[in-house]
Amino acid sequence: MAEHLSQSELDYPFKLLEYFNGFRVSKVIFSACELGVFDLLLRSQEPLSAQHVARELSTSVDGMERLLDALVGIEILEVETADGTVLYSSTDVSNLYLAKGSGKSLHDMIIYQSQTIYPLWNNMVDAVREGKNQNEKTFGLPAEDIFQAIYRSEEEMLKFMGLMNSSWVLDGHDIVTAFNLSCFQKIVDLGGCTGALACEMAKAYPSSSVTVFDLPQVVDAAQKHFSQENDAVVFQTGDFFSGEIPPADLYVLARIIHDWPEEKCLTLLQKIYDTCRPGGGVLLVEAMLFENRRGPVMAQCFSLNMLVQAEGRERPPSEYTTILNKTGFRNVQVCRTGKSYDTILATR
Ligand SMILES: C[S@@+](CC[C@H](N)C(=O)[O-])C[C@H]1O[C@@H](n2cnc3c(N)ncnc32)[C@H](O)[C@@H]1O
Repeated sequence: MAEHLSQSELDYPFKLLEYFNGFRVSKVIFSACELGVFDLLLRSQEPLSAQHVARELSTSVDGMERLLDALVGIEILEVETADGTVLYSSTDVSNLYLAKGSGKSLHDMIIYQSQTIYPLWNNMVDAVREGKNQNEKTFGLPAEDIFQAIYRSEEEMLKFMGLMNSSWVLDGHDIVTAFNLSCFQKIVDLGGCTGALACEMAKAYPSSSVTVFDLPQVVDAAQKHFSQENDAVVFQTGDFFSGEIPPADLYVLARIIHDWPEEKCLTLLQKIYDTCRPGGGVLLVEAMLFENRRGPVMAQCFSLNMLVQAEGRERPPSEYTTILNKTGFRNVQVCRTGKSYDTILATR
């Protein structure tokens, strides 16, 4: 019989319990973020009581005390007792990643997970049964195009853009330096959203020009709301399915292929191949599955996310190689970063 969880799980299923209680731990972090707990503790020069935090954030004292205790339990906050008063304080991790202000903040990622992904995952059983996304059931929006659902309001679009932006705070540098891309003079990031990854490109390759290509409403919002981060890049509006794409030496497709069914991926890659000069390339950035189907669990969960929210899937490198080869690309090279996202470079 194949061995699954370790043998000691048979004595007591620690890991199993941790897994299926995982949603509660997620909700502890999400709720604290939404309430502003991490921002308040970062701003405060001293540790605070639950009463103080509750008063500042307009919550019940009892609820706040339980939430703060759970955050201490998962080692995201610190606690001490001074003269009989229980006082809570931030940690380096909460200040760096969970409070809003820091350059490495994952706050926007957490807000999107809490307010959009979490309700979608509530319909995972139906997504698996039906094999299709649950945008209509979750948000009441019939959407032929997934981006009609994702961008169903200006507020939702900005939240999604915040999510996209914050991933590259963590993985951007590793992605753009996984291969030496300095031979590509003109780089176009198709579906480049806020320009966060493109900015990392521009920093790593200062003698190349970097263009972000995206839908008009996205480019407009990127320039209005994320402009302080994207001075080094140029924006261009368009539709990569129905319109033309700008000429370039290197096309970046970060988290684009995973959104769409295979026919649409092939159409887009063919358009890129036909526009690309010989020697030019395409850089795919995705969370890649292992060939042996055993992980990484995060990429497997992302693939379920694509089922519940989009029309695509995550793939192992061999499947990307197959679709790249079908459209004519050769010299496919894979780089696993060991972090959330990996990259594949192929040339014409
Ligand atoms: C999953 S997001 C990835 C964003 C960015 N590449 C990243 O990894 O952070 C997909 C992006 O594709 C853009 N997009 C979707 N359909 C598009 C189209 N037809 N033409 C151009 N961009 C499109 C979306 O606006 C969005 O910015």
